[in-house]
Amino acid sequence: MSSVAKKKTNVVKNKTKGPGLKNRDTSGPVDFSHREFPMLDKDFKFIQDMALKQTGITLSHHKQEMIYSRIVRRIRALKLRNFSEYCRYLSQNMGLELGEFTNAITTNLTYFFREEHHFEFLKKTVIPEIRNKNAKTKKVRIWSAGCSTGEEPYSLAITLTNARWTSGWDVKILATDLDTNVIAHGRRGLYDIGRFDGMDPEVQKKWFASSNNGDSQSDEKLAVKPSLKEMIAFKQLNLLESWPMRGKFDVIFCRNVVIYFSKETQRVLFERYAEMLSPNGYLFIGHSESLHGVTDRFETLGGTIYRKTH
Ligand SMILES: C[S@@+](CC[C@H](N)C(=O)[O-])C[C@H]1O[C@@H](n2cnc3c(N)ncnc32)[C@H](O)[C@@H]1O
Repeated sequence: MSSVAKKKTNVVKNKTKGPGLKNRDTSGPVDFSHREFPMLDKDFKFIQDMALKQTGITLSHHKQEMIYSRIVRRIRALKLRNFSEYCRYLSQNMGLELGEFTNAITTNLTYFFREEHHFEFLKKTVIPEIRNKNAKTKKVRIWSAGCSTGEEPYSLAITLTNARWTSGWDVKILATDLDTNVIAHGRRGLYDIGRFDGMDPEVQKKWFASSNNGDSQSDEKLAVKPSLKEMIAFKQLNLLESWPMRGKFDVIFCRNVVIYFSKETQRVLFERYAEMLSPNGYLFIGHSESLHGVTDRFETLGGTIYRKTH
């Protein structure tokens, strides 16, 4: 799929740091007690503990500035005065606030055909193998775990259908994420035009339709065509909790998700992925992630691609 994503410029930087913070030394604890909405050490500790317990995400001190700016939006919306009040509010209204809290702390950076070599491998190696292996059932199941705003599952769907073999096959992609906002975005399937920079215009034209509602060109959005949407089920799911899925998957993509998890959480998660994969099923993880010292249930094929061995 080398022509599909020639350059990786269509990066969504949801909830990332603002300008001016890049060069700041954020290695140690920073004093947030004199800010407009004071955050004490004990408040950050509470947020760290809550994040770890509820999502598996480890928030180190260098994330303090980012967490401050994200949680402050909730504090303003709730008309609270400081982080201590927010922590109290969260613990007393878990049912109401937990979703907002987890949405605020997750990092959703993603883009179409991210780590292009994964999609190449899928096309050249995995798809031909699955077509042989599943020739009788004509069923393919793929899971995009931690799918963010949907670019990953849509890239998977495009790769599968572009290979021109899916007709007559039952192909389903499950796309899950903890964050309800990103799931809603993926389900809507509407993306700013700037997100398609670097995508082959033919691929763009084939799978996305203009949905400009008369606004300026820069506001233009493209909508995923229904035939592609139909292949994907977007569901909210916390990877740390129980999973309702019954059947096995041929392929699991879980990329740039476990980077925030402790080794122990990763161990449990990859054990569960091995159980969810069919024999010799494939697992794709992020470029800075590794299964080394985490699980022996997969063999590495290079390029952060793994195959289940047992
Ligand atoms: C950086 S994005 C990765 C998106 C996509 N996989 C990619 O590589 O482009 C990480 C996603 O993992 C999700 N996530 C984090 N913790 C999670 C959890 N415990 N359960 C499910 N999703 C989680 C976040 O909400 C976020 O959307």
